[in-house]
Amino acid sequence: MNRAFASADRAAISVTCIDKTGLDDALSHLPPDQASWARTTGFAAGLGEACLLPTTEGGIARVLLGRGTPETRARKRFALGAALAKLPEGTYRLDPGLEAGEEREAALGWLLTGYRFTRYKDKPALKAGLVAPDSVEPAMLETIAAGEWLTRDLINTPAADMGPDQLEHAVRALAEPFGAPVSVITGDDLLAQNFPMIHAVGRAAARAPRLIEMTWGDAGPQVTLVGKGVCFDTGGLNLKPGSSMALMKKDMGGAATVLGLARMIMGAGMRLRLRVLIPAVENAVSGASFRPGDVLTARNGLTVEINNTDAEGRLVLADALSLATEAETDLLICMATLTGAARVAVGPDIAPFYTDDDGFAGALSGAALRVGDPVWRMPFHEPYETMIEPGIADLDNAPSGGFAGSITAALFLRRFAKSAPRFAHFDIYGWQPADAPARPKGGVGQAARAIFEALPEVLK
Ligand code: BES
Ligand code: MN
Ligand code: ZN
Repeated sequence: MNRAFASADRAAISVTCIDKTGLDDALSHLPPDQASWARTTGFAAGLGEACLLPTTEGGIARVLLGRGTPETRARKRFALGAALAKLPEGTYRLDPGLEAGEEREAALGWLLTGYRFTRYKDKPALKAGLVAPDSVEPAMLETIAAGEWLTRDLINTPAADMGPDQLEHAVRALAEPFGAPVSVITGDDLLAQNFPMIHAVGRAAARAPRLIEMTWGDAGPQVTLVGKGVCFDTGGLNLKPGSSMALMKKDMGGAATVLGLARMIMGAGMRLRLRVLIPAVENAVSGASFRPGDVLTARNGLTVEINNTDAEGRLVLADALSLATEAETDLLICMATLTGAARVAVGPDIAPFYTDDDGFAGALSGAALRVGDPVWRMPFHEPYETMIEPGIADLDNAPSGGFAGSITAALFLRRFAKSAPRFAHFDIYGWQPADAPARPKGGVGQAARAIFEALPEVLK
C-alpha cells in the first residue's frame, strides 16, 4: 500500500494536464515530435485520459493527462488522481496550472487509489509514485488518507473477524500511539451501569456487547462522536432475508467512519477535546433475543416499544447518545448505517445528514464540495414526530408503513440528544458498490473528510 507521497528531491516525470477544449493550443506549445505523437495516438484530453510521450531512448519524456470538460469533471470525482495512480512504474510530478482545489483532489485521489485490502490476499501496490504538488501539505493529506484506510479496513473485515471484541481491539490499537485512554463496559455490566438497550440488542450473540469509549486531547472545544457498531445485523427475530443480510458486515460503518475521523483529528493534532463512543453489538438470533412487542426502558428513562428487531441501530445509539449528553459537549455527531430508506433516497454516494444547526449545515455543505465528499441535508420534519409515538410506550422503534424511514429514525435519535447544543446525525451507507476513482468496491468512509474540513469553521 502506498501510504506517502514521493520525496520532492526525486527526479520525476512531468505530467501536463490539458483541458479538452484547450487541446490544440496545449499541443502547439509542445515540441513538434511530441505534439504529433499525441495526435497520432488519438489523445483527446478526455477526463483521466493519459498519453505517454516517449524519449528517443524509449523512456517516458512526459505525460499528458486529460482534464476533460467542466461537465465530465462534475460527473466524476478523483478522476485525475486515479489516472495518475495507473501510470507505469516511475515517479511523477504535476506541472503547475491546475486550480488549487483540483490539484489537492488529484493528490488525494492518487493517495486514496493506493488503498489495498490485503488481510486475506496480497494485492500489488501502485507502481506510480507522486511528488506532492507545492500547494498541498503532504502530511495532512497522508493523515486524511490514513483515516480513510482505517475506515475501509474495518468495514471490509468480515464479521467473523470483526466482532464487538475485535472492534474494541481496533479502538485500542488506534488509541495507543496517540496516548488516548480507552474504557469499555462489557456484557452484563451494561445492565449494571444502565445501558439497557445496548444490552438488549446485543445479549443474544455469542460475543458480548459492549460500549467502547476513547478520549483524546486536553484543551479546546468538546467534540463527541458516536458511531453505530453493529458488527453484524441479521435483523434479529425479524430476520432479514438473505439478500438483505449479505452486506451486513458493514453495519459497523458508522463506528468505522467516526474512528477514521478520529484518526484524522488526532493525526492532525487538532486543538479540541475528543470523545468517541461506540456501542458495539451483534444483532443475532437466539433464545436470548429481544422480541417484537417488548418494551425497553432506555438509559434516559424513555420507554421504547419494539415493533421490529431489525431497527436495532437507533436503540444502541440512543443509550450512547444519552451518555454523551450527560457531559458537556459543544458538538455531538452521530454516524450510522441506520436505514435502507436513506440509501433508497440518495444512493450510495451521498451522505444524508440531519441537524438543527444552520451554521453547521452551511459549513459542512461548503466543505463537502471542496473536498469531494458529498453530503445532503435532510429535515427533522416535526410533523412526523407523531409517527414515532406508539400507544403503550414513549417511542416506537419502527413505525409501521415505513414512510420517511430515514427521517423518523433521525427524529428518534434526536429524542436522546435534546440537551446537546449542536447535534448532527449522518445516515450513511458505508459501501462502494462498484469500483470508482479512488474508491475501490468495498467499505468506504462517507462525510468524515467533509466534517474534518469543516471542523475549524464549525468550532470557531
Ligand atoms: N442496518 C440496517 C439499515 C441498512 C440496510 C443500511 C441496508 C444500509 C443498507 C438497519 O439496522 C435496518 O435494518 N433498518 C431497517 C429499519 C426498519 C425495520 C424500520 C430498514 O431500514 O429497513
Ligand atoms: Mn437492522
Ligand atoms: Zn442495522
